[in-house]
Amino acid sequence: MIENVAAIIQKMIAMSNGNLHDINHFMKVYAFSRMIGLREGLPEITQTILEAAAAIHDIACPLCREKYRNTNGNLQEQEGIPLAQNFLSDVKLTDEMKERIIYLVSHHHTYAGVDGMDYQILLEADFLVNADEGKMPLDAIKTARERLFKTKTGIGLLDSMYLGLYVNNL
Ligand SMILES: [Fe+2]
Repeated sequence: MIENVAAIIQKMIAMSNGNLHDINHFMKVYAFSRMIGLREGLPEITQTILEAAAAIHDIACPLCREKYRNTNGNLQEQEGIPLAQNFLSDVKLTDEMKERIIYLVSHHHTYAGVDGMDYQILLEADFLVNADEGKMPLDAIKTARERLFKTKTGIGLLDSMYLGLYVNNL
């Protein structure tokens, strides 16, 4: 039985078959998610949901690459549901928490209808990592700052990492 987020990460790394790109990606998204969640003062249960979802959010990537030869967001969201359900079957969390984690995995490319801080922060953390990994143009980063980012911590990270801005208002 898997008892905590550290063990979830360990299992996710073991399942990644040595794909260091995938492992590095979700470790970064996990780290930003955890950090933003802590700085935004999430309740403990929401923080755990966020961290677990960040660790497994791209669980469908290997299957999508194999089956469709691409990792299009919609395909990942659909394929992610059964994979996440299966992954969580031996994880010791409540059914409500598991349901929310699966919901986040199956919506992490959907920018409309964000219905909670866990969802919002996962989107921000994934964007912070993808902006670098995908060498995103400055315009796209500025647009995301206006339209996607909501948390003070996430905006501060985007500013200092990509926009050369450091505002000392911590
Ligand atoms: Fe991702």
